Amino acid sequence: MLLHDESPTAVEEREKAFLLGTYARTAFHPRSGKGARITDAEGREYWDLLGGIAVNVLGHRHPRLIKTLREESNALLHISNLYYHPTQGLLAERLVRASGLCRAFFCNSGTEANEAALKFARLANPGRAGIVALNESFHGRTMGSLAMTGHEAYRAPFEPLVPGVTFIEPNDIPAVEAAVSETTSAIVLEPVMGEGGVIPLSHDFLAAARRVADRTGAILIFDEIQCGLGRTGTLFAFQQSGIVPDIVTLAKPLGGGLPLGAVLTGAAIEGLVKPGHHGTTFGGNPLACRLGLAVLDEIEESNLLDRVNEIGGWFKDQLLALQSRNPSIVEVRGHGFMWGIELDGPAKPVVAELLNKGFVAGTARDNVIRLLPPYVTPKKAFVEFIDALEQVLAISVSRSKEKAA
Ligand SMILES: Cc1ncc(COP(=O)(O)O)c(C=O)c1O
Repeated sequence: MLLHDESPTAVEEREKAFLLGTYARTAFHPRSGKGARITDAEGREYWDLLGGIAVNVLGHRHPRLIKTLREESNALLHISNLYYHPTQGLLAERLVRASGLCRAFFCNSGTEANEAALKFARLANPGRAGIVALNESFHGRTMGSLAMTGHEAYRAPFEPLVPGVTFIEPNDIPAVEAAVSETTSAIVLEPVMGEGGVIPLSHDFLAAARRVADRTGAILIFDEIQCGLGRTGTLFAFQQSGIVPDIVTLAKPLGGGLPLGAVLTGAAIEGLVKPGHHGTTFGGNPLACRLGLAVLDEIEESNLLDRVNEIGGWFKDQLLALQSRNPSIVEVRGHGFMWGIELDGPAKPVVAELLNKGFVAGTARDNVIRLLPPYVTPKKAFVEFIDALEQVLAISVSRSKEKAA
């Protein structure tokens, strides 16, 4: 039974009656998609420049994913991590070879990947409780990941969380040197911070974190859940800096739309993780892992990284040109297909207007428009977006002038 004909009002009413109110949902009802296009319940089409928050890197209804889903669902939907199955090993081998790290552990989400990373760091550093993380970081909603998320508003209602976290400013080299010591278990960084407003960490800062980790034995964890798997133009964002972490966490696009997270571990973790130390019922599900292999195959065979680099570089120039014409754009930040456009006022109303004009975009913090489009998004979509954003910003500037008068 397909429920795609349910009216938007019926869907909203049922959700309001029966779901916990964890989301302030936008009144937008996507029902189908193809490539970078989404169609809503009324049949209206949109460019999807958010990609399900960095998940749908191959866009919607990709033929390779559909074929893989059909094939694998004909075999086994679930087995158990008690037994062997070819898919986990194949995906682990691909990720290990591509990253230069040693091994993989599969779970179901980003926050779970970060929780596992914290546990593995603790095995490397028994009894060391300290974690160094960044202000404005985001690592997930479970107790450990939340404890190292640098947004007070997310943490406050749930304290006390996992203790021992020190927050420092992104890109502050003296601060990371001062904060990390022999009591630090892990340093946790997003090479490009997503929820924090698309803030790329400098290569010098990543190098300083590597140096202090080496000096103290702290485990350097890169959370590439949002910025990894090609988003910034290399398969792993850390490959642009040449700084290799001890652990990388992945999720979002990895399962081609199904829940799949991964922890990649380097030499510092070798030999430490034993049977019984960690596990999950669903993690590394055969269907999700097969989709993960299909995502990696498609990125490689269709040269999607070249595309992300080429179109991303061109788009950056377009955004900078728009900024030079438009004083309400404070800063443009990002790489490849991960962009933050910081405004001099709230981004939410601008994103709402963009939706009216047929563009799905996101926000980060209060003032940043965030774009995480599928890697298959055509140049035309970006051209039309620049035009639409220019129009929306012109309207909001004239509105705020009217208000001030
Ligand atoms: C950098 C980063 N880490 C962790 C997470 C948490 O991932 P999940 O929502 O899959 O638990 C997110 C989600 O937005 C993220 O962007």
